[in-house]
Amino acid sequence: MAQAQRLKVLVSRADIRRQVRSIARHITHDFRGEQVHLVGVLKGACIFLADLVREIDLDVSMDFMAVASYGRESNSSGQVKLIKDLDSSIEGMNVILVEDILDTGLTLDYLRRILSERRPKTLRIAALLDKPSRRIVRDVRGDYVGITIPNQFVVGYGLDFAERYRNLRDICVLVPPPELDNHGHPGPKR
Ligand code: IMP
Repeated sequence: MAQAQRLKVLVSRADIRRQVRSIARHITHDFRGEQVHLVGVLKGACIFLADLVREIDLDVSMDFMAVASYGRESNSSGQVKLIKDLDSSIEGMNVILVEDILDTGLTLDYLRRILSERRPKTLRIAALLDKPSRRIVRDVRGDYVGITIPNQFVVGYGLDFAERYRNLRDICVLVPPPELDNHGHPGPKR
């Protein structure tokens, strides 16, 4: 019979709040006097983006994209598929891609490639969490990164396991850890 899982807090809500404020301060500083366009990656980044946007003291607009990750064992071009595109053009804008977690880097590598072809004025990456030990695409780096975590599967604050736990206020690990595929993910969904 399946064993019940407990949640252990890895990053508390107070630490998350501090990090979100710090990222927002850096963005506000770097783009003083300009407009920024936040692009959230659904679904995981929606809670981070909602908190971040309210801490940025600039003229801000936002949009969302959604991607699905498939067959992480196959070649890189087939691994990430766009399932929701932006509503409007980003040409000439200061775009900040907002992700919940930078893990293998495949998602952000794909997104930054397709977005840079659309000629934004600037393109930066903000990620609340970073798991550098899992990186496959080495040159993907966050410009604004909150917390570096070890190679553990985390849930909460937008992050899910099989669509559960997104509503937790803290970022937690499941004990015992969930069964993941060879690539550290619960399956082909996001
Ligand atoms: P990447 O393409 O491997 O960098 O994966 C990024 C996406 O994988 C994130 O946006 C998350 O949706 C998902 N992901 C990676 N690590 C975790 C985790 O520890 N918990 C939940 N989702 C994760």
